[in-house]
Amino acid sequence: MKRTKIKELLTSTKTGSEILVKGWVRTKRGNRNIAFIALNDGSTINNIQVVVDAVKFDENLLKDITTGSCIAVKGKLVESQGQGQHVEVDASEIELYGKSDAESYPLQKKGHSMEFLRENAHLRFRTNTFGAVFRIRHAMAYAIHKYFNDKGFYYLHTPIITGSDCEGAGEMFHVTTLDLKNIPRNDDGNIDFKTDFYGKETHLTVSGQLEGELGALALGEIYTFGPTFRAENSNTPRHLSEFWMIEPEMAFYNLDDNMDLAEEFVKYLIKYALENCREDLEFLNNMIEKGLLERLNFVLNNEFIRMTYTEAVSILTGSSRKWEYPVGWGRDLQAEHERYLVEEHFKRPVILTDYPKEIKAFYMKQNDDGKTVRAMDVLFPGIGEIIGGSQREENYDKLLSRIREMKMPEKDLWWYLDTRKFGTAPHSGFGLGFERLILFVTGMSNIRDVIPFPRTPKNAEF
Ligand code: 4AD
Ligand code: MG
Repeated sequence: MKRTKIKELLTSTKTGSEILVKGWVRTKRGNRNIAFIALNDGSTINNIQVVVDAVKFDENLLKDITTGSCIAVKGKLVESQGQGQHVEVDASEIELYGKSDAESYPLQKKGHSMEFLRENAHLRFRTNTFGAVFRIRHAMAYAIHKYFNDKGFYYLHTPIITGSDCEGAGEMFHVTTLDLKNIPRNDDGNIDFKTDFYGKETHLTVSGQLEGELGALALGEIYTFGPTFRAENSNTPRHLSEFWMIEPEMAFYNLDDNMDLAEEFVKYLIKYALENCREDLEFLNNMIEKGLLERLNFVLNNEFIRMTYTEAVSILTGSSRKWEYPVGWGRDLQAEHERYLVEEHFKRPVILTDYPKEIKAFYMKQNDDGKTVRAMDVLFPGIGEIIGGSQREENYDKLLSRIREMKMPEKDLWWYLDTRKFGTAPHSGFGLGFERLILFVTGMSNIRDVIPFPRTPKNAEF
């Protein structure tokens, strides 16, 4: 007999039929004569109740069915006598796949702290909260591909190992096969990368954008969706050193088109979650963040504010708030400033544009004022920056002079510069941090809890 998933059983109308169900025991209660097992198989947040008539089973078998153990149950799907569920399983055969020692199984009780569950990330999928988070994470990944596919964007796989630093922030992990105990050196004392695997210095990518642009300038509209790596020593609830990013890149889009796409895209994802992840969201709304559903609906139903960095700075300097980090034209905005604008001043998502060129990457299109670039950051309540993007500098001379001004390694970017020599075009794109999106959609408060196995400074367990 083939197993039926619990999600299907719970909505089934086929009471009276023989079924096979398999899963992990959440709880077992009852007495000498009868036991009630709450079984979960990950297909839904809800458990199915298995009713066990003790006389029909070996006493030792029943003793071994404890929280965390894995069983297969054959039985009849019947209308439930008890409250809280509409069907249950009247067990006729039980096979114990795996015992779970009651003394040492870490998830005995309910109500463990997030820190404890992080240390037990190998088992935390078995809790209601993490089951919900990772089902939603899956649904969002699917919805991202669906959104872009339906709009005619192509999914482009950009490399993980690269020889260039897209953001120019120098926050990169080396990739090397050199013997670290015996590093080859040139006469001038520098590392001799000629003998390294690629014959040159390489890193894990911080962004697929530069290669994404090459795709957009031929295929029209592309997106990437892959892991990116940043060796920045930021120990915050919003930063990972390994995170996933979605980077659409579009030929013939100006910054306004780019903002329109970003707003439509995140609203689509929120709507998709509300329509397809209802039970999990309701659970999170009750247990993790009261008001989650309201917040999602609010963002869905309101237009984002759009304004320049310069206007934002004057709002911030005009407020009576005491800032931990100073505000002033030319300084980068910190999370506290971004969240003030979004959560207190406007009380809705904000897109800031036209930042000073000194605090943004080399590839952004330069404005005529000579001071600002066509950047955009989308700021979200509870998160701060969720998207960063820009219109790109398509003019060869301007791009080259910026690369030189910023002392970027010009010779490594020859292929990028080539696109501005051969049929250049106005184009734009942005990057959405996947985990920041999942934080927003689930109401979780720490980014370590929305990726299965977080990578942060001094932590690469599992
Ligand atoms: O603003 P960022 O650095 O932009 C880029 O990488 C551009 N190349 C994107 C583009 O235009 N194609 O990063 C984009 C987004 C941020 O807004 C944030 O959501 C997320 O990536 N992000 C991080 N998420 C988790 N941990 C980190 N350390 C992150 N750094 C950036
Ligand atoms: Mg950014």
